[in-house]
Amino acid sequence: MKVFAHRGASGDYPENTKSAILEALKADIDGIEVDVQSALDDYMIIHDSWLDRTTNGTGKVRAFNAQALFKLDAGNGEKIPTLQQLLDWNNNKTLLNLELKHTFELEKFAAVLENNIAAGNISKDNVLVSSFDHHQLQFLKKALPWLKIGALTSSIPLHYAKFAQELNAFSVHVDKSFVNKAFADDAKKRGLKIYAYTVDKEQDITLMLEYGVDGIFTNYPAQTKAYLASK
Ligand code: G3P
Ligand code: CA
Repeated sequence: MKVFAHRGASGDYPENTKSAILEALKADIDGIEVDVQSALDDYMIIHDSWLDRTTNGTGKVRAFNAQALFKLDAGNGEKIPTLQQLLDWNNNKTLLNLELKHTFELEKFAAVLENNIAAGNISKDNVLVSSFDHHQLQFLKKALPWLKIGALTSSIPLHYAKFAQELNAFSVHVDKSFVNKAFADDAKKRGLKIYAYTVDKEQDITLMLEYGVDGIFTNYPAQTKAYLASK
């Protein structure tokens, strides 16, 4: 079962910051999940569309440019990273699961990915774009047919695996509380990977293993790897 660091190693470091990302890279993980929001002029790594919960700023991310956002403290004196910084720090070491939130100008977003692939900063295999907004995924898949897309859902609607298959998704990303064996089997039968979030407790990790889930998102990647190795 693969282990993805959720918002980086966000259990021990401020979520979606450089320290959380670098710490995740130290663990032998299979990928890092981060959230992408649009600022006025750039793509930022931050979960909420509002600054208030995770920074000392206030207002919408979209109301500022990157230079203004760099002045904010995202925890322990860290800055909100840009997508480009994330790609540079990662340097193709692991898979990046970029979850689109309020992410606009998707042609520009696609161009950022293509430019970084052309520059050798990341390989196509190491990019997985997910979203709760399946129209965003449809648009990107059309623009970049090689792109792996992950269909996110908070519950499991009826026939969701079939829907994701028709979307040409690589994976379904599902809240752990809704995962069950029948759904996992259906998704796998359709050639989809099934990834569950957010799985931190040992009993939940064990349950996901029993269901045959392909990967989990966790805030504690190093501890989760250690627990899995001990089993
Ligand atoms: O991508 C999985 C998970 O991160 C989705 O929920 O709210 O943590 O972004 P959220
Ligand atoms: Ca997320």
